[in-house]
Amino acid sequence: MNINPQDLTERENYKLLTGSIIPRPIAFVTSISDDGVVNGAPFSFFNIVSSNPPMISVSVQRKSGVMKDTARNIAANKQFVVHIVNEQNVAKVNETAANLPPDESEIDRAQFTLIDSTKVNVPGVVEAKVRFECELEQMIVLGGTEEQAGCDFIIGRVKHYFIDDAIYNEGKIDALELAAVSRLAGNSYAKIGDLFEIERPE
Ligand SMILES: Cc1cc2nc3c(=O)[nH]c(=O)nc-3n(C[C@H](O)[C@H](O)[C@H](O)COP(=O)(O)O)c2cc1C
Repeated sequence: MNINPQDLTERENYKLLTGSIIPRPIAFVTSISDDGVVNGAPFSFFNIVSSNPPMISVSVQRKSGVMKDTARNIAANKQFVVHIVNEQNVAKVNETAANLPPDESEIDRAQFTLIDSTKVNVPGVVEAKVRFECELEQMIVLGGTEEQAGCDFIIGRVKHYFIDDAIYNEGKIDALELAAVSRLAGNSYAKIGDLFEIERPE
């Protein structure tokens, strides 16, 4: 099958991308509005950008050209917290993906417990084993059409790590203890599967 992306709708492209690029890690991002409402939402267009300095990316899609609350908050306040979604918090995180108005907090809806951050003015949530406190490095508006942008690509610089002692050992993270879950297409998720090792050639 050969397919020209230009012949497909946005939805059709989305299905091919999200069905093929799997498993995707999930960031649960907290941000804060001008009015002080803490917002939380999951994003699986999420990855490492650099380790020198530590930077991560989250791509927030626009809806008919309109920024999501997360992107709007980060553009204004320049700070946010990224949490790794795992088996224990994924159900709560899913609750936060509801489409709430900007003045309503998904954090309250999902009954997450807020905790002050160390280096940024946005709180994180206790129900995550890893938190990255981030400062906005760059926000790049991409895609869409001349009239309506497609997404806000956010690059954050990690200013502080919180790592649960139970998953931390001599500078390394225990993958099975972290129990991260990933997103596949649609409503499907995956746990960490069988682990195996391959020696790298010299
Ligand atoms: C597991 C999961 C992953 C998601 N990944 C993304 C993503 O990568 N980009 C995106 O724009 N929306 C993604 N969404 C949808 C947003 O979480 C959803 O639109 C949310 O309401 C946005 O919240 P906000 O308006 O408070 O920022 C995802 C939803 C779920 C449940």
